[in-house]
Amino acid sequence: MTQRSVLFVCLGNICRSPTGEGVLQHLAATSPWAEAVTVDSAGTIGYHQGRPADPRMQRAAARRGIELTSRARQVQAADLDRFDLVLAMDRENLADLQRLHPTPKARVCLLSEFLDESWPQDVPDPYYGGEDGFEYVLDMIQAAGPAILATLVADLPHPRES
Ligand code: 4NP
Repeated sequence: MTQRSVLFVCLGNICRSPTGEGVLQHLAATSPWAEAVTVDSAGTIGYHQGRPADPRMQRAAARRGIELTSRARQVQAADLDRFDLVLAMDRENLADLQRLHPTPKARVCLLSEFLDESWPQDVPDPYYGGEDGFEYVLDMIQAAGPAILATLVADLPHPRES
């Protein structure tokens, strides 16, 4: 089956991008595209390499029925050729990706490209803040999720017809 892939990228790969991964994985799994979509996440720094998502982020996601199972890893230049879509959580992450690989095969852009203009450009880093920051990360990513999935599979035949 033809595959489409998306990589979510933030700074540490323990809060925002694991949430992107979990939300899209959950959306895809409950759609006809479960087999067609590959989802992953990575961080621009390797500081938290191998760690599971931040427990505060895991708890907030679990309250919405979303399990975060990723282990942190640092993004590689090759990721930007390997994935179809690479979504940066904020403008600093995007600038770091553009420096890492100035001529990617992937479409590399902000997650907020998939949101209307009532949302900010950046998914705010919740790491040093309170509980509501983690809820806001989920609000923003869940609002973008359906448009991300629709864009990923836009040129694939419907699974029932292929
Ligand atoms: P994330 O959050 O980029 O959403 O995973 C952060 C995690 C760790 C740090 C900063 C942001 N840190 O400075 O260690």
